Amino acid sequence: MENVTTVAHPLVQHKLTLMRDKTTSTKGFRQLLREIALLLCYEVTRDLSLDPVQIETPLMPMQAQMLAGKKLVFAPILRAGMGFIEGMLDLVPSARVAHIGLYRDPDSLTAVEYYFKAPSDLSERLVIVVDPMLATGNTAVAAVDRLKEHGASELRFVCLLATPVGLANLHRHHPEVRVWTAAVDETLNDHGYILPGLGDAGDRLYGTR
Ligand code: URA
Repeated sequence: MENVTTVAHPLVQHKLTLMRDKTTSTKGFRQLLREIALLLCYEVTRDLSLDPVQIETPLMPMQAQMLAGKKLVFAPILRAGMGFIEGMLDLVPSARVAHIGLYRDPDSLTAVEYYFKAPSDLSERLVIVVDPMLATGNTAVAAVDRLKEHGASELRFVCLLATPVGLANLHRHHPEVRVWTAAVDETLNDHGYILPGLGDAGDRLYGTR
């Protein structure tokens, strides 16, 4: 699939299996999400450019490398995206955060916005949109729409699980947005849940079911 990277790293796949397992506790699910997010963040930032800098080690001067170019914004889609950015912020603590409140209307499965707050300089930043589940893709499309309306021009998307239909929907509207995911599952049920999936990510993360 074009513009889609499935992260096959054994640690990611192992943690994903534990998260799918219905017997995993809320505490376990939350911790695993944080850990897997860190690993996915490592992959989505793999090609960031570096600049040479001159530093001194305790023993001698040297030319070393530091991150260059655009600064990062993580854009979690509320609410399950919040559990995801914890691990990403562990890895990139200086990143800014844009919160996007969207919920899926249970009947139409369309995205309804209830909150949006982002840094004002989105056009100068690489924006990484974060949502554990890319199901129908409607929420992802709406989030990217809103971020572009606010000036974002370089966007990536990270999720735990995606579906072929969700990826096709996102790329029909935003073909340039590259996606990183731990797995692409088969299909959706009539309520828009991913199959085999892991259930409702927000409920499992916050114990609200
Ligand atoms: N959102 C979830 O939390 N789970 C799904 O399977 C689909 C969307």
